[in-house]
Amino acid sequence: MSVSIDRAIAVKAFDETKAGVKGLVDSGITSVPFIFHHPTANLSIPVAAHLSIPTVDLSLPRPITIDRIRSASRDWGFFQLINHSIPISTMQSTISAVRAFHELPTAVRSKHYTRSPVGGVAYLSNGDLFKSSAASWRDTLQISFGPVPPELDEIPEVCRSELVKWDESAKEVAREVMGLMCEGLGLGPRRLEELSCLEGRGMSCHYYPPCPEPHLTVGAGNHTDPVILTVLLQDEIGGLRAKRKVEDGHEVWVDVKPIPGALVVNVGDLLQIITNDEFKSVHHQVVANSSDEARVSVACFFNPGRREESTTYGPLPELLSSENPPRYRNFNVNDFLGRFLSKELNTKTLIEFFKL
Ligand code: OGA
Ligand code: NI
Repeated sequence: MSVSIDRAIAVKAFDETKAGVKGLVDSGITSVPFIFHHPTANLSIPVAAHLSIPTVDLSLPRPITIDRIRSASRDWGFFQLINHSIPISTMQSTISAVRAFHELPTAVRSKHYTRSPVGGVAYLSNGDLFKSSAASWRDTLQISFGPVPPELDEIPEVCRSELVKWDESAKEVAREVMGLMCEGLGLGPRRLEELSCLEGRGMSCHYYPPCPEPHLTVGAGNHTDPVILTVLLQDEIGGLRAKRKVEDGHEVWVDVKPIPGALVVNVGDLLQIITNDEFKSVHHQVVANSSDEARVSVACFFNPGRREESTTYGPLPELLSSENPPRYRNFNVNDFLGRFLSKELNTKTLIEFFKL
């Protein structure tokens, strides 16, 4: 039998368990099944242990915060937000609720397992399972909060009220960050909000089980986020890394180290496009979890809510000049997101496709 047929059968069998990677771990496996083997998991670029992602302290005077966010978004595409308005207790109960869902008895959890969201909700392992050449060591509960609100009954009860509340909290943080970004760009402070960038909201509640052979696979492959902005809540385990070009032009990974109480913010492809490359959408990945406890993270993605054919997005006219001509063509958001869904997560960024 050819390798690809072999693989297709194994992938389908894994998906049909409806138990995710958590199910494999529960079954007591001591090695990583071949469908998860990443040929390049181990041979990637070095980690620069002495570097860390910039921290933005929202309690500092506004002009300083604006400056910090602008330089972090230009140079790093990633930053950690501290002294934001969300209580630590809210963050902790969100993480606990997500953990509780992924640790429900298999028979209960698997009722939600699907690749066709029901009422905006889907539990699954590897959104790109049938497209990628290697699967990642994680499971995800995905909820679409907007522009169409989810059917609340479809959100698993064990985490329903926490996730509905988290959507609101993350939205407030995103509102604040977008306002600061707009000011840093010299735009009207509500420009991104007026473009409906708080209205398209997706939440990915990830669960990264302990991995018996973490050198053979990854938690999430190398990718950029196809969004305006991501607000990420992570527990204390760590494993997320962002790519960074250092002085000599080489690339290194920088650990996005868990900081108690901090939220991670990263610039997505759409923000890079509408800022005409002023802000950078940076590649990132998650290493396979080598601790003996599962890692939980909650990524909230913000996108324009207006999806009709006639609404197009591209570099914002206010930012363009004869010295700074547009680098991207205008497009419709459905066209953009459709292109993302049809591809493997860790392939070339979508940005290239819309370049002029
Ligand atoms: C993502 C992502 C990182 C993490 O969901 O796009 O990059 O730490 N998540 O889970
Ligand atoms: Ni991401």
